[in-house]
Amino acid sequence: MEHTLHTLKSTVSDLTQEISATSLLATSEVEEFRIRFLGQKRGVITHLFKVIPTLPKEDRREAGQLLNSLRSVAQSKLDSANLAGNQLTDHSSQIDLTLPGRQNQWRGSLHPITLALTKITNIFYRMGFTIAEGPEIEDDWHNFTALNFPDDHPARDMQDTLFIDEGNPDQSRIMMRTHTSPVQIRMMVAGDPPFRLIAPGRVYRNETITYKSYCLFHQVEGLVIDEGVTMADLKTTIYSFAHAFFGKNVKLRYRPSFFPFTEPSAELDIWWELPDHPDGGRWMEVLGSGMVHPNVLKAVGIDPERYTGYAFGMGVERPAMLHYDIKDIRTLYENDIRFLSQF
Ligand code: DAH
Repeated sequence: MEHTLHTLKSTVSDLTQEISATSLLATSEVEEFRIRFLGQKRGVITHLFKVIPTLPKEDRREAGQLLNSLRSVAQSKLDSANLAGNQLTDHSSQIDLTLPGRQNQWRGSLHPITLALTKITNIFYRMGFTIAEGPEIEDDWHNFTALNFPDDHPARDMQDTLFIDEGNPDQSRIMMRTHTSPVQIRMMVAGDPPFRLIAPGRVYRNETITYKSYCLFHQVEGLVIDEGVTMADLKTTIYSFAHAFFGKNVKLRYRPSFFPFTEPSAELDIWWELPDHPDGGRWMEVLGSGMVHPNVLKAVGIDPERYTGYAFGMGVERPAMLHYDIKDIRTLYENDIRFLSQF
């Protein structure tokens, strides 16, 4: 069709009306609209721009303005349809306002061993003990010899101990420490009495793994050295601890025992109520303790005629298992979220 400025004007006004009357809802309608009006090849407006050079020179400027404004009417129709379309998909597919809110983002919690350790150390901290640490890789002297273990003691055997370096059999063997007692030795070598400390940490043994034994576990060691310290101080301290940890009504038994590094030695048991048990429960060993052996004091250069002291050592896993009713020690090391999130 041949165009004059006049026919062009009426075409533009028809198209403007058509555009404003169009409602673009479906995505396919939006695309059809784009092709019909603004398509690079067959778009109506694109086509009309080609008319301009055929018009008399004096009409071309006005024709250009008309077509530019028609094009921006079409373009803004398209833009607002696209915008509405995006919002439509946002609301319909990504946010469902009728769903209940998500209450719990993942929130961490403390491991039951950490909880038990913290409880134990807090009790001793309140009784005036400081906290010491020692290495988990030890040598024979700190782990055994200085603690008055005889050369043929079974704990020095491959059966119980994870040796890293067999070395020569006397003093230079390197091992994973089998207990926290070597921290007593390290602290006494490094400082001068009085001492009043606990030493929490990991220990390792070459154990057969079962529901109640694992190759690694935790202990808390205690050491008090001063002038005039007696067994009455020891008993009072560990009874106070037991009442604070297990409750005032706990039933306790303190009975003689043996450890190479204490003399005399005693162990503390607590009564574990078990309704199904024929005796209504059973005694559970909680800690070993005693008066520090004079040979240990001599090994670290402390005069046993002047200073006396006591020591104790307890496991952490068993009290934690009792407290939280955990039936198998292995669950403490498996890092299963379903288990851990209960604490
Ligand atoms: N070290 C001992 C163990 O692992 C526990 C122990 C007993 C520690 C008596 C002590 C103590 O300090 O006096 O079996």
